[in-house]
Amino acid sequence: MAEVTGLGYVVVDATDLGAWQEYACGLLGMQSAVDTADRLVLRIDHKAYRLDIRRADRDAVAAIGWEVRGPRELDALTRALEDGGYAVKRLGGEAAARRGVSGLAEFDDPDGQRLELFWGSREAADRFTSPTGAGFVTGTGGMGHVFQFVRDEAAHAKLYFDILGFRLSDHIDFGPGMSATFAHCNERHHSIAWAVAPGLPPGVGHLMFEVDELDHVGRAWSRARGGAAPITMEFGKHTNDEMLSFYSKTPSGFQVEYGYGGRLIDDTTWTPARYDATSYWGHEFTEHRDPDEPDV
Ligand SMILES: [Fe+2]
Repeated sequence: MAEVTGLGYVVVDATDLGAWQEYACGLLGMQSAVDTADRLVLRIDHKAYRLDIRRADRDAVAAIGWEVRGPRELDALTRALEDGGYAVKRLGGEAAARRGVSGLAEFDDPDGQRLELFWGSREAADRFTSPTGAGFVTGTGGMGHVFQFVRDEAAHAKLYFDILGFRLSDHIDFGPGMSATFAHCNERHHSIAWAVAPGLPPGVGHLMFEVDELDHVGRAWSRARGGAAPITMEFGKHTNDEMLSFYSKTPSGFQVEYGYGGRLIDDTTWTPARYDATSYWGHEFTEHRDPDEPDV
């Protein structure tokens, strides 16, 4: 069965590219590969980019790019999505070239968030160099994870589990009748998670980037505490994926979880668990956090 293999890239529409440059490079340690008045292209590894930030008159996650193995898998998933009632658009030359991929298709998730499937993404010729000395954990685990607030949990479960080939990692119950679902498509504990949060509009709550030393998180946390960005959740350790992380607000309003030490999944032995807390310690809300938001 064809399936998604990892989170490949995220495209962001942003009103303030200068603020993004300071946030992504100065705080998170990403490398700008392109930095013009209209576009900020960011690297965290050997890939040509992982975040593509475009000047726009809105702040929003414009597209989430999911990687598949090749053209046959792209064809098969396109058919499976169409059978599931999704309108999929296959994109040719110019659009694929803009994304730096060999094959590309796009569709909208049940809440209208644009998703893309691609294969064959471009590698950079030169070595990734972080301006803060950070190293990121990517490789077969993809670039990180996405957390989305959604309207219809069942529709997202059907999309990710039944069509795109994700497997259940676990659930966290964070309030009466409310739970978050975590799903994986490689060894990273989750590449996507979703939850219904009453009172919050659907959309990306946060993106997670994982670094390869705890000190990178600690230094970034110090920079954020020194005023580099609004911290939304303090340093802490999650229950299910055991990530040591803190959360800060991006210039586009959604958050970035910056973490170390995420748990890996071996599908031959994994059995999903259920948690009733999101963190073992820390991750306290700050005044920059929407009080309606669950602490995931
Ligand atoms: Fe997260």
